[in-house]
Amino acid sequence: MERIILTGDRPTGKLHIGHYVGSLKMRKEMQDKGGYDKFYIEIADVQALTDNWDNPEKVRQNIIEVALDYLSIGLDPEKVTFFIQSQVKGLFELTCYYLDVVTLARLQRNPTIKSELKMRNFEGNIPMGFLTYPVSQAADITGFDATIIPVGDDQEPMIEQTREIVRSINNLYGETLFEPQAVLPENLVCRRLPGTDGNAKMSKSLGNCIYLSDDSETVRKKVMSMYTDPNHIRIEDPGKVEGNTVFTYLDAFSETSDFEKYLPEYKNLDDLKNAYKHGGVGDVKIKKFLYQVLEDELAPIREKRHYYEERIPEVYEILRKGTNDANKKCNEVVKRLEENMKINYFEDTELIKAQSMKYTPNGD
Ligand code: TRP
Repeated sequence: MERIILTGDRPTGKLHIGHYVGSLKMRKEMQDKGGYDKFYIEIADVQALTDNWDNPEKVRQNIIEVALDYLSIGLDPEKVTFFIQSQVKGLFELTCYYLDVVTLARLQRNPTIKSELKMRNFEGNIPMGFLTYPVSQAADITGFDATIIPVGDDQEPMIEQTREIVRSINNLYGETLFEPQAVLPENLVCRRLPGTDGNAKMSKSLGNCIYLSDDSETVRKKVMSMYTDPNHIRIEDPGKVEGNTVFTYLDAFSETSDFEKYLPEYKNLDDLKNAYKHGGVGDVKIKKFLYQVLEDELAPIREKRHYYEERIPEVYEILRKGTNDANKKCNEVVKRLEENMKINYFEDTELIKAQSMKYTPNGD
């Protein structure tokens, strides 16, 4: 079996540092490590439209932003195939056949869908496209024979749903599709980075994001106004580390070498946490440190983004080429499924012969 990696993002906004630690960074590491046969990254515009059908322009504008974010973190179009979901028509075909093996009750049980329906006030009047997007996502994955799916933890129910569809299809029509596995970041803090305001999720609609494309001054301002421990008022006061967003971000981003560089009075993060808990460490100090740590990571990303921002037509060419490749692969899978379902009527000479015999047994 080939080792095929696939993942994707909805083009509804620029990507932020939650996406970065939750998935993007891992993609870059997987790319650099190699040892795979193909690596696809999908810009999921069809999925984005399932809750933005009234605003296709937003989706249209953000495809390039997401592509720029990918390139800015060092994903390399020579090693990764980037494509746009809506332009791979085979995905619609697969979705349609998969819908036949999925029930309404099963879709309504998906915990990510449940919370998304609530968040969007869709509960009373559920749009079918939205409810069924996990089935379309199963097509995204199986349409490329992908088995290795680097994602954030909220995507696990989608991978589970995909595995169930794969089993149903294989049981019905014979071995056709492959079961995928989610690959999550090892550092638990990275699986769901909170927003700068301490809210459990970093999200555009909550306005609590640090974007990969933010300039240095914007990052500084956002870090300096981050949520810490509301009871840590004077420097001498003992402070809380749990639920303190600055420490959560340090857990996700800082390395011991950062202490030597920027905060040599502490050996490492545990040392700093202990001092903070005892009192005597001010919030400004930890925020300045976090800003420096983040800047080390974000400055080269920003620079690379600027390079590609000046070459937009080139970026569209990358997407066009990737989408062509993706179409080739997906069509193979559609063909395989149609053969196994025996709905490839025009290629089926046996069928045509047998039916001729049925009606004109003497051959005339
Ligand atoms: N649902 C994913 C998200 O919201 C995006 C996505 C679409 C995806 N298709 C995919 C992720 C296929 C992994 C594999 O982030």
